[in-house]
This record gives sequence, C-alpha cells and structure tokens, in this order.
Amino acid sequence: MSLAECRIIDLPKINDPRGNLTFIEAERHVPFEIRRVYYLYDVPGGAERGGHAHRAMHQFIIAMSGSFDVILKDGTQEKRFHLNRSYFGLYVCPMIWRELDNFSSGSVCMALSSTFYDAGDYYRDYDEFVRASKV
Ligand code: TYD
Repeated sequence: MSLAECRIIDLPKINDPRGNLTFIEAERHVPFEIRRVYYLYDVPGGAERGGHAHRAMHQFIIAMSGSFDVILKDGTQEKRFHLNRSYFGLYVCPMIWRELDNFSSGSVCMALSSTFYDAGDYYRDYDEFVRASKV
C-alpha cells in the first residue's frame, strides 16, 4: 500500500434538471466493501481534523457540501488534494497518514470506511506511524 494508490475516483453522475444524482456501489466505485459511514459537519473555521493513519482501514472521502483539503503522507512524501464536489472522492489506502484542513463554511465531509470503528486500528502518533511504515 502506498501513496501512489491513493487517488481521486470519479463517481457516476446522473444529470437532471430536477437535480443531479450520484451513487456509490461497494467494490465497484470504491475498491472495498463498505462497513461504516461517518461525516464531519459544523466544522468551525480554521479547524483541522484527522491527524492519524490506519493499520487496515480503507477509506473514501467525499466533500458532500462545500470544500476542504486532505493531506496524505506516507512518511516520506506528501500530497494535498482539494475536495469540492460530491461527484468525486479520494480513496485512501491503509498505512497513510491523513490531515484535513481548509474547511469552507457549511462543508460536510463524508467518509466511507472498510471497517467498523476500532480505536486499535489507529496510529495517532506521527513518529510511531513513520517507524511502522518503514518496517
Ligand atoms: P477521529 O477519527 O479522531 O476524527 P477525525 O479523524 O475525523 O478528526 O474521531 C474523533 C472521535 O470520534 C474519537 O473519539 C473517536 C470517535 N469516533 C467514533 O466513535 N466512531 C467513528 O466511526 C469515528 C470515525 C470516530
């Protein structure tokens, strides 16, 4: 698993004058089975979220409303992605550190995850993550 595998994935978009529609099917549009959905909202200006990596969890992050940035780090390199539409998202593979910032007012960040919530799957210490990622 590496930073190169983390990528923007375009989702199907059904354009309609009544309002557009996008859908996501597990293992078709995202490369994992979806076990959990959570979302961040009412994020105050200047706040930063994330600041962790996961041992096993695959994730897909979408800006359902507004915009924000996701910074991904593998311990050597980093990449910043700007998410601002609900018809594409960012796939994040395991063993990648993520930070989220630059939230616009009223933004909603939805995350689809391959695992149920498990505090034991987190690296919350960056140095520990870097050491583990070099093994
Ligand atoms: P955390 O993953 O650190 O949030 P973020 O990465 O978005 O900044 O989680 C914040 C808190 O919420 C932490 O106490 C764990 C809890 N939490 C759950 O109970 N279930 C979940 O599915 C998630 C994502 C977090």
